[in-house]
Amino acid sequence: MAVTACCKVPLGVNLNQEFIETMTLNTRLDTIEQSRALRDALGEFATGVAVVTTHSSTGEPVGMTVNSFNSVSLEPPLILWSVAKEALGYSNFTAGKGFAVHILKGDQQHISNLFAGCGADKFGQVKWHADADGIPILGDCAALFRCRRVQCIAGGDHTIILGEVLHFNASGAEPLIFHRGRYRSLSGD
Ligand SMILES: Cc1cc2nc3c(=O)[nH]c(=O)nc-3n(C[C@H](O)[C@H](O)[C@H](O)COP(=O)(O)O)c2cc1C
Repeated sequence: MAVTACCKVPLGVNLNQEFIETMTLNTRLDTIEQSRALRDALGEFATGVAVVTTHSSTGEPVGMTVNSFNSVSLEPPLILWSVAKEALGYSNFTAGKGFAVHILKGDQQHISNLFAGCGADKFGQVKWHADADGIPILGDCAALFRCRRVQCIAGGDHTIILGEVLHFNASGAEPLIFHRGRYRSLSGD
């Protein structure tokens, strides 16, 4: 049993205290309930949504939706995101020389759903072109970062990919937000 201390209160019970669920974990989640509770707590961190693209060893476009994107450093300009080991595109992202990160706009929920689909014909349904390195670039987004992969870092069932930003642009459009497992907008819908 990995849990060393566990004090759970049903959601919605008002105990006049700051936290409605507290759980102390060792190194593993033993039950679906613990896993759900950790996911829910992590989901309190609101993020943007991005589509990361690269190409396969045979030049095919590869892409997936992520919300693990974050900024790391300005000098040098570094960003990171993490890819699940079970993702179909895993080896393309961890072995490829570069990738592009497209920050999605508030009205691009359908693009997020498309690129979160497993094995779907993702690129047949969007406008895109290949850059000089063969990296797929989507036509429209809130911001774009073209990156050189500089490091892969072990992160449990994911691998953290560190990239150096080589080129970027930003449109000023409102971004798509992901919070508590749902898409949201900055205006609060
Ligand atoms: C909002 C959202 C955020 C996601 N973030 C990540 C992420 O950061 N890393 C990841 O590996 N998968 C993430 N996923 C899941 C992948 O998009 C999904 O597993 C996709 O099928 C992977 O594509 P592939 O298996 O064709 O490579 C996210 C999905 C959604 C909807």
